[in-house]
Amino acid sequence: MGGNAVQRLCVVGAGTMGHQIAMLGALAGCGTAVVDVSAEALEKARSSNHAHMARWVKRGRLSEGDAEQALGRIRRTTSIEEGARDADFVIEAVVERLAEKRQVFATLDRIAPPHAILATNSSTIRSSLLADATGRADRVCNMHFFNPPLVMELVEVVMHPRTSEATAEEAMALARRMRRTPILLRREISGFVVNRILAAIMDESMRLYEAGIASFEDIDLAVKKGLRHPMGPFELMDHNGIDVAYNVRMQRFEESGDPAQRPARSIVERYERGDYGRKTGKGWYVYPPVPSS
Ligand code: 3HC
Repeated sequence: MGGNAVQRLCVVGAGTMGHQIAMLGALAGCGTAVVDVSAEALEKARSSNHAHMARWVKRGRLSEGDAEQALGRIRRTTSIEEGARDADFVIEAVVERLAEKRQVFATLDRIAPPHAILATNSSTIRSSLLADATGRADRVCNMHFFNPPLVMELVEVVMHPRTSEATAEEAMALARRMRRTPILLRREISGFVVNRILAAIMDESMRLYEAGIASFEDIDLAVKKGLRHPMGPFELMDHNGIDVAYNVRMQRFEESGDPAQRPARSIVERYERGDYGRKTGKGWYVYPPVPSS
């Protein structure tokens, strides 16, 4: 391949991250397949991307013709075989659990053309833990987008010890074509750069809240007004999903064996109630239902 040669992209998982990553791929000119086991998730992805592009057109960021063309480059399927069989590059964005991701990688390795690169959008899982589920470890890496991908500019490309230079270059080039700003981590570390920094903020916020020092609302206010972050830590948890926060910490705990890495009590409570944040209408805060478009 080399440089800007990715013609066909496949994104596995049409959730919060996957559907917008697919939109970025289509905007970059790639024929893009989005795969999800749920036809309902695919339909939600379709209508969300249409709404975002309509907004971009209205704001003068894109012509109507370009928006239509980009949306037309996306095909949706519930069959991973159908989605990945002609892909040059695959980005996996399924649930943040190692076993599920390993299964997806093993399947992709069987289906995708031998030259295809397999990248994971995992928030925290090192790609070496997925590479050994495939026979193409040199073509596996992390490509970590931020939520919401259509807005957030950063992409972390992370090499594991067997990732080839060509693979890293291809991932960096694809991120640039998507008009993102990629950074390259040449050595892998769980959580990469941003989520390690974010975890420190989240942990301290949680300690302050659980010790009764301040309410979560006031901690959010403090971080927004005192640090000028666009969202406070608790709002951000609702935005990203409390299920994601829970799974990330469980993964860290399982990898390290360190009980201090377990999710905080207040996260576990919400996770067990199914209060995942914005996506379920309730997390730390309560949200009005999103009108279906
Ligand atoms: N999808 C796509 N676009 C969105 C969006 C979404 N979910 N939410 C907002 N936008 C767009 C809006 O359409 C608007 O676009 P415009 O400039 O063309 O009008 C623009 O973003 C601003 O939106 P709003 O005016 O509605 O609202 P805000 O100004 O409050 O911005 C926000 C919303 C961009 C989400 C902002 O609050 C923000 O930047 N929050 C912090 C997000 C963040 O930190 N993300 C990283 C999380 S960590 C992560 O992702 C790692 C992972 O591994 C867990």
